[in-house]
Amino acid sequence: MRRPRWPRSLFARLVLLLCLGVAVAQGLSFWLTMRERNEATTNMMMGYIEREVTTSVALLDALPAAARPEWLPRLARRSYEFRLEECDESLPHLRVLEANAVRSFEEGVGKQYKLTVHQIIGEHERYQVHLRLSDGMPLTIDFRPMRTVPMSPWFGALMAAQLAVFAFCCWLAVRLATRPLEQLAQAADALGPDMQGAHLPEKGPSEVARAARAFNAMQERIAGYMAERIQILASISHDLQTPITRMRLRVDMMDDESQQSKLRQDLQAMEQLVKEGVAYARTLHGTSEAPTRIDPDALLDSMVHDYTDAGHQVALRGAVGRPMELQPQALRRVLGNLIDNALKFGGAADVEVETAAEQGGIVLRVLDRGPGIPEESLQAVFEPFVRLESSRSRETGGTGLGLAIARQLATAMGGSLTLHQRDGGGLEARLALPG
Ligand SMILES: Nc1ncnc2c1ncn2[C@@H]1O[C@H](COP(=O)(O)OP(=O)(O)O)[C@@H](O)[C@H]1O
Ligand SMILES: [Mg+2]
Repeated sequence: MRRPRWPRSLFARLVLLLCLGVAVAQGLSFWLTMRERNEATTNMMMGYIEREVTTSVALLDALPAAARPEWLPRLARRSYEFRLEECDESLPHLRVLEANAVRSFEEGVGKQYKLTVHQIIGEHERYQVHLRLSDGMPLTIDFRPMRTVPMSPWFGALMAAQLAVFAFCCWLAVRLATRPLEQLAQAADALGPDMQGAHLPEKGPSEVARAARAFNAMQERIAGYMAERIQILASISHDLQTPITRMRLRVDMMDDESQQSKLRQDLQAMEQLVKEGVAYARTLHGTSEAPTRIDPDALLDSMVHDYTDAGHQVALRGAVGRPMELQPQALRRVLGNLIDNALKFGGAADVEVETAAEQGGIVLRVLDRGPGIPEESLQAVFEPFVRLESSRSRETGGTGLGLAIARQLATAMGGSLTLHQRDGGGLEARLALPG
């Protein structure tokens, strides 16, 4: 048999522990109460029986022998009855010397009469006490002590109700304690690259409010640092544009042709870095572009045509077939960055459109048969300025900002961008957009 598993969630653990603890405590106190109750009842009953039986035996003894039988039913009680006969020798019995139950007889009737006591074996608890009345007539007291007091019928229901009330309170209390944790985790998860996560409500119990305040303050601090860094990046990139333009003009006036083309290449690389730096800084807080209803097929078609016209190998497969609410500039930029990568690293790009995605969304795939990206770097390449060794050494150029920008824009459009290794080599960039 398998060992029962300890539940994973704090909620389940707390509820389980509390309910178990209460059930055990309630069981114990129930047992104790019943014990005390039964003991007290037995003691009381015994004193009562002692007096009753003594009186009844005295009465029978005083009555004439002929009148005794009719008195017997009147003297019988719930736990004992009288019989005017000898001890029934056919019963399997046992001589009892030290029975608490019979001691009361010894102390009452036993003072005047000589008693013989038998316990009847096989029945729950039954004794027969024999004696002879003063005129020699035998008398048997058949005694069945009652040790338990019957419980009221609604007792079980009451216990169940009590447990149910407790379980409910327990569930409420535990939820109260664990919900803030859940909210904190959600808020931390929701904290995107733009640091515009949800502000946690700073109310509720003091510990929770404090944690929420601390979390909000941390979020604001991080957002502040980020904004500062991005601001620096944006202003450097922006201010570099002017000197680069000036240098370009100077290069155009140079005489040395070979130096001129080398410098021009360097300037081009600088310009790209500056442009992408500005773009990265701008897209960090999403995009201000308003969504418009466009025909996505026309957009894809014109993009692919631009590439093929420039002599690149780009093919388009599939179509959306209906207009969609999109941010066309952002989409162009994302797809452009992905296709540029595919061309740069794989030499050719395939763009596939799939509409069967969930709730009217679409999935766009950009595929290539280049070297691909090793599994462990599939996430890292989305970081700004991260370029893999292979592409650095290949002199392919580039800033390492393309994928970072693409992912930011994809997120801003409400979609997601992921990279996957392709069967048979190459890379698949998957852009999923909501409908
Ligand atoms: N289609 C691809 N095939 C192989 N490696 C790729 C591909 N796309 C991106 N990479 C890797 O991811 C890195 C980051 O890409 P990106 O952010 O576009 O920067 P850049 O293209 O400027 O180098 C690239 O330098 C390259 O190492
Ligand atoms: Mg790139």
